[in-house]
Amino acid sequence: MTRDPVCGMVVDEKQARFKSTYQDHPYFFCSEACKALFDQNPEKYLGRPLAESALRRKVAIVGAGQVGTTFAFALMMSGLASNIVLIDQNAALAEGHAMDLSHGLPFAQPTAIYAGTHADCQDADVVVVTAGAAQKPGETRLDLVRKNTAIFKDLIPKIVEHDPKILLIVSNPVDVLTYVALKVSGYPAGRVIGSGTSLDTARFRSLLSQHCQVDARNVHAYIIGEHGDSEVPVWSQVNIGGVFFKDFCPICQKRCDENEKAEIFLEVKNAAYEIIEKKGYTNFGIGLALLRIVGAILRDENSVLTVSTLIEDYYGIQDLCLSIPVIVGSGGVLRHLHLSLDDTEIKALQVSAGVLKSVIDQLNL
Ligand SMILES: NC(=O)c1ccc[n+]([C@@H]2O[C@H](COP(=O)([O-])OP(=O)(O)OC[C@H]3O[C@@H](n4cnc5c(N)ncnc54)[C@H](O)[C@@H]3O)[C@@H](O)[C@H]2O)c1
Repeated sequence: MTRDPVCGMVVDEKQARFKSTYQDHPYFFCSEACKALFDQNPEKYLGRPLAESALRRKVAIVGAGQVGTTFAFALMMSGLASNIVLIDQNAALAEGHAMDLSHGLPFAQPTAIYAGTHADCQDADVVVVTAGAAQKPGETRLDLVRKNTAIFKDLIPKIVEHDPKILLIVSNPVDVLTYVALKVSGYPAGRVIGSGTSLDTARFRSLLSQHCQVDARNVHAYIIGEHGDSEVPVWSQVNIGGVFFKDFCPICQKRCDENEKAEIFLEVKNAAYEIIEKKGYTNFGIGLALLRIVGAILRDENSVLTVSTLIEDYYGIQDLCLSIPVIVGSGGVLRHLHLSLDDTEIKALQVSAGVLKSVIDQLNL
């Protein structure tokens, strides 16, 4: 096994389809895109001293609003990153937050936190993009699409010019904007990730945990599809400590009919609307969901997470981004998990894909 020198993904030399030779040394790549980047300028990827790159974990956050700064705070407290850069079109805002956060460092982990520009995306392991207009009360996520697509068409080229490893898109509508970022960046699919239904899955697990009175970490459940109104709960695969949900009732000894399940899912689906109605924005849940995804990348965890990714062939769905369980490591999305969905779930996922496809088709990408 070796590592793709461009994206850091683990590659099996014996099976790798993409190879280059530079100064008599063979290099192997996960994709044609990584090979092409390497061939243009090998020194760029080989020139970094190993010790420095192994120790430095840099995360750039573009958009220093509610979500970006809450995530920055969680990341700083976690000690996972050595460098955190805040970038915002409102430079004073980014500077103010960077100062404020850095004053807390004596109570946290050693981290360099500073405000920067797009050029600071250079050498970033992950760039987390939360820039854009936020969802207003009563506004659906899909209403935001035109506003934020225009922002992304301008912003993404300014970021990828500096060749960060992974783009993690958070701005809404996140699935559409992940697809926009993928197309505009020209990056290989695995290196552009949307936070997708990672938060919805956490909400689902958390509500099931309250319902069944079991630690949320032992509740295994997924929300897949669009991060939004058409998202899909995968009830057929919910299990609690290895026991399927339908078989858990005798253990739980609580009434649980279809109405109860529908109520749980409705609460998951409407959570963002309800929180925004009450406090104007959501930040803590998403901040921690981002920490989970970024942690999986920085520590090369190969964790199974529901994030938005390019779908090429999944129950007949193709050429759009939506969430399914995938394996996430230092190279981004490494593999897709094929769930055995029941007929209702397959239909709902296809409807969700149809909603996203109809939006993407209107964007003229
Ligand atoms: N995917 C999810 O689960 C999830 C959850 C919560 C929020 N969101 C989305 O995240 C985004 C941010 O939400 P928020 O509450 O932090 O909003 P916010 O308004 O507080 O922050 C957005 C920041 O982006 C900055 N910005 C705008 N255009 C920019 C550009 N071109 N370059 C650099 N900075 C730019 C703004 O100045 C602002 O500081 C929204 O789109 C929101 O809908 C997604």
